[in-house]
Amino acid sequence: MDPVQNPFSPGAGTPPPELAGRGELLEEARIMIGRALNGRSTQGMLMTGLRGVGKTVILNELMRMAEEQGALSLFVEATAESTLSELLASELKKLFFSLNRIAGTADKVKKGLVVLRNFIGAVHLKVGDIGLDIEPFAGIADSGNIETDLADLFECVAEAAKEKKKAVLLLVDEVQYLPKKELGALIMAFHRLQQRQLPFAVIGAGLPMLAELAGKTKSYAERLFLYPQVDALTFEATRQAIETPFASCGVQVERRAVEKVYEQSKGYPYFIQEWGYQIWNRVERKRVGIDVIDEVRAKVVKRLDENFFHARLERLTAGEKDFLYGMSLCSGNIHVSDVAKALGSNVASLSKRRASLLAKGMIYSPRYGELAFTVPMFGQFMRRSRK
Ligand SMILES: Nc1ncnc2c1ncn2[C@@H]1O[C@H](COP(=O)(O)OP(=O)(O)OP(=O)(O)O)[C@@H](O)[C@H]1O
Ligand SMILES: [Mg+2]
Repeated sequence: MDPVQNPFSPGAGTPPPELAGRGELLEEARIMIGRALNGRSTQGMLMTGLRGVGKTVILNELMRMAEEQGALSLFVEATAESTLSELLASELKKLFFSLNRIAGTADKVKKGLVVLRNFIGAVHLKVGDIGLDIEPFAGIADSGNIETDLADLFECVAEAAKEKKKAVLLLVDEVQYLPKKELGALIMAFHRLQQRQLPFAVIGAGLPMLAELAGKTKSYAERLFLYPQVDALTFEATRQAIETPFASCGVQVERRAVEKVYEQSKGYPYFIQEWGYQIWNRVERKRVGIDVIDEVRAKVVKRLDENFFHARLERLTAGEKDFLYGMSLCSGNIHVSDVAKALGSNVASLSKRRASLLAKGMIYSPRYGELAFTVPMFGQFMRRSRK
């Protein structure tokens, strides 16, 4: 069929033509946002899942839902390069300006802008970069301690939103990259908002180690947030993700073909999109049979290697890549000792690589002492690429 019209969308955060299997999670989040809008206390949400399961897509969908319900949203993506304060400052400026445009008294909004100015000075951001031409006013959010300053700032944001009968939804992607201090500050700030029942909800997403990281940073984080897991799709959801876009063009996908896609993709959303994309380009008739699956398999694997897997290796050293290759040779629950054995080296010499791969988010520890890839099916890729 016409590639120009191809609705499938393998990519990062790109909305799929059919957002399958996430109904319950979206409903839970909708209630959370609704409660925040009504000034009722609500837990936050920290979603966790492997690479390519659709976390960013869900955050984007929640942002859309929140705005539809009348809330204002802030979206930041944590990276190893920038601080949370930097990411938040310019977004918050925009938020205060939006609040300012809403009719009615704006005392809290004006106060909020001054507090933002204080915060920017206190965390040593360049005011010029944010473009906020206001004099600081000593006293709030200017201690230089991010934990208390961020809590002060968020409180002012929430009060300004309340003044305008609005709620704020803060969405944070890749939360596992936040340094401990910033993650702690975020949790503490949310804790304060929750105690004061202010209209401010926080939803984050990150790799599976996030739940443990949050708990270690602040023990009360366990009660403050829900931790839904974003997993691979079930067979039924995979069927929906593949069938629906074809059905809207009058093309039927045979059950055996769906079963094959499920078997190959294991229900991982990114892989499903790549399969759908290649099938669409290949199919000529009004029916997708098992023959088409066989015809596109090589192309799908090639595209996944080039676009999904290879990109993950770019920031790694040769030693780190070896470690991952060693892991790919192990089966079952993987321990460092297994990796050492597979590579013919010793555990002590691998500990630095293990630590840096954990920090880079390439691997995580599903249980004490065990290791796993954060990228689904990465082991097969490593073995394929070293043949
Ligand atoms: N529920 C779904 N049904 C079908 N396809 C989906 C679904 N969710 C996400 N996708 C597709 O999966 C791909 C990956 O989505 P997304 O980038 O949101 O994943 P992610 O979990 O944020 O990955 P990463 O950890 O690498 O950032 C996208 O191509 C998206 O269109
Ligand atoms: Mg993402």
